[in-house]
Amino acid sequence: MTLANGSNDSVARQAAQPSIFDVLIIGAGFSGLYQLFCLRDRLGLSVQVLEAADGVGGTWYWNRYPGARCDSESHSYCYTFSKELLRDWDWTERYPAQPEILRYLNHVADRFDLRRSIRFGTRVSAAAYDDDANLWRVTTERGERLGAKFLITAVGCLSTANVPKIPGLQSFRGRWVHTGEWPHEGVDFRGKRVGQIGTGSTGIQSAPVIAETAGHLTVFQRTANYSVPARNAPLTPEFKRYVKANFSEIQRLMDGNPNGHPWVIEERLVFDVSPEEREALYEAAWRTGGLRFRATFRDLVVNKAANDTAAQFIRDKIREIVKDPATAAILSDFDHPYAAKRPPIDTDYFETFNRENVTLVDLRATPIETITPAGIRTSNAEYPLDIIVFATGFDALTGPLLRIDIRGRDGLALAEVWRAGPRNYLGLQVAGFPNLFTITGPGSPSVLCNMPVAIEQHVEWITDCIGHMRAQGLERIEAQPEAMDSWVERVNAAANATLLPLATHSWYLGANVPGKPRVFMPYAGGMAQYRRTCEEVAASGYRGFALSR
Ligand SMILES: Cc1cc2nc3c(=O)[nH]c(=O)nc-3n(C[C@H](O)[C@H](O)[C@H](O)COP(=O)(O)OP(=O)(O)OC[C@H]3O[C@@H](n4cnc5c(N)ncnc54)[C@H](O)[C@@H]3O)c2cc1C
Ligand SMILES: NC(=O)c1ccc[n+]([C@@H]2O[C@H](COP(=O)([O-])OP(=O)(O)OC[C@H]3O[C@@H](n4cnc5c(N)ncnc54)[C@H](OP(=O)(O)O)[C@@H]3O)[C@@H](O)[C@H]2O)c1
Repeated sequence: MTLANGSNDSVARQAAQPSIFDVLIIGAGFSGLYQLFCLRDRLGLSVQVLEAADGVGGTWYWNRYPGARCDSESHSYCYTFSKELLRDWDWTERYPAQPEILRYLNHVADRFDLRRSIRFGTRVSAAAYDDDANLWRVTTERGERLGAKFLITAVGCLSTANVPKIPGLQSFRGRWVHTGEWPHEGVDFRGKRVGQIGTGSTGIQSAPVIAETAGHLTVFQRTANYSVPARNAPLTPEFKRYVKANFSEIQRLMDGNPNGHPWVIEERLVFDVSPEEREALYEAAWRTGGLRFRATFRDLVVNKAANDTAAQFIRDKIREIVKDPATAAILSDFDHPYAAKRPPIDTDYFETFNRENVTLVDLRATPIETITPAGIRTSNAEYPLDIIVFATGFDALTGPLLRIDIRGRDGLALAEVWRAGPRNYLGLQVAGFPNLFTITGPGSPSVLCNMPVAIEQHVEWITDCIGHMRAQGLERIEAQPEAMDSWVERVNAAANATLLPLATHSWYLGANVPGKPRVFMPYAGGMAQYRRTCEEVAASGYRGFALSR
């Protein structure tokens, strides 16, 4: 084993050959920052992070659109690995806004002196495994070449913006922007005719804020989406004290919740209670607000009849809030179960459609035909616009990985192995790609979880695994094809045991990107179950992986 231990040996080797490291990490968001800390400062390895952006933060560096904020509650949307960090950092709101989360991640980078190991403005274009040298050879868009024994992708699940190929976009005389690549200087909507395409979590956050300053906002909706009020508010001094004094209890809740959130999912079933009691429970959850609405009953995401009751409750709420019945009908014309797509939470989203300066366009009834120099033309009208906001989401999960030309042993392309959809073992490794780890890869709980929980678990598992290899003098680790096959079956079975695949247009299935294989990508068996499996695999001497010298 030649891994350096922060030793003179390592320093000398780096001086002679500065582009070779023990580990290369791609990405400096939540995942990459913590992975860097663990491998550099805990294991003492030589580590280089390569990051396309000019700063740390990942999602929170790129998504600066109006209204961008978290929908995990702030006291759980953070790292838990450092008691000092938990003690010293204070969130201000129930759901922090993008600038505050970005400040937090910058604080982490400074506090743990991470920046000196990150090369910013550096997009990785290719990575190829050299079997003879047991080295990953990495190329950047600028043509730099670097190498490392281990390659770890921390590229995020939602970092590749999806701008739909609508004919005529190039001819548009106004300005267009995608929410996931928002200009740092902001966009001035004052007095402008704005068109927003998309009503996912992003569009539901941005529309109310854009409407406050725009001359007119036209929201183009393809699929009606559920949303529950966020009920954001400043955190009280009492709540902040409670969090600091009780973090181990909060962590216990997060570890026990299938989605990594700090609450208990109720044991009761929808039809265990009377219709009146059910209505009262939904009403209380609506008043509390947030993603915990889904935790009102245990069977909401597994039993369609049970789910229908939640869907009806939300439909009724929309019809109560939105004054124009025709607009309310379009907004509540759901075609999939509640929470089968990522459930958004909002601040005054449905109320926004009561404003004089907001119009809703139903793209199911009147699809977009083309973008013209002057605006957007649907099958029955033309909407003149100054600015188009694409709140159209991401080429999720596989997109950021396949954007890199990743080649394993004998030039095997990841794009080829994943032609019919992603295949891997535990969401962490692909057979044929030794020493490559994918943080929050497809096949892991990732986006179905409060993500810092999933990220910390992956980073710590990878760190322990590399530490184990180092202690045992092992040089290579590679997922076995049979282990990969049975994990893929388990991922499919976990999804099929829920209602999630019933939302056939969801990005969980890749359905938002034309031509992408339709495969349910994240592991839906729950974070606690997944964590146990990963722990058992490690305890058994890494069952399903081949380790060699
Ligand atoms: C608007 C928005 C709101 C969200 N809110 C929540 C929430 O409330 N709760 C929750 O749990 N999750 C939320 N998420 C998911 C969020 O992505 C994760 O919580 C978390 O930030 C992911 O961290 P990450 O480091 O894994 O990935 P990212 O934050 O996406 O970071 C990946 C980094 O890799 C870089 N990168 C990618 N490819 C390359 C390359 N080829 N070369 C170099 N660099 C590269 C990117 O530039 C990026 O900086 C949200 C996502 C979005 C888009
Ligand atoms: N913390 C938060 O509150 C928060 C905020 C933002 C994002 N996020 C995370 O990021 C994920 C992605 O959210 P997102 O809202 O950016 O993307 P999204 O959920 O994929 O939503 C994209 C929207 O754009 C529409 N769309 C896409 N292509 C279109 C086209 N060609 N024509 C018309 N409409 C089109 C989609 O319609 P269809 O539904 O018909 O496909 C959908 O309404 C979320 O699910 C969540 O995990 C979280």
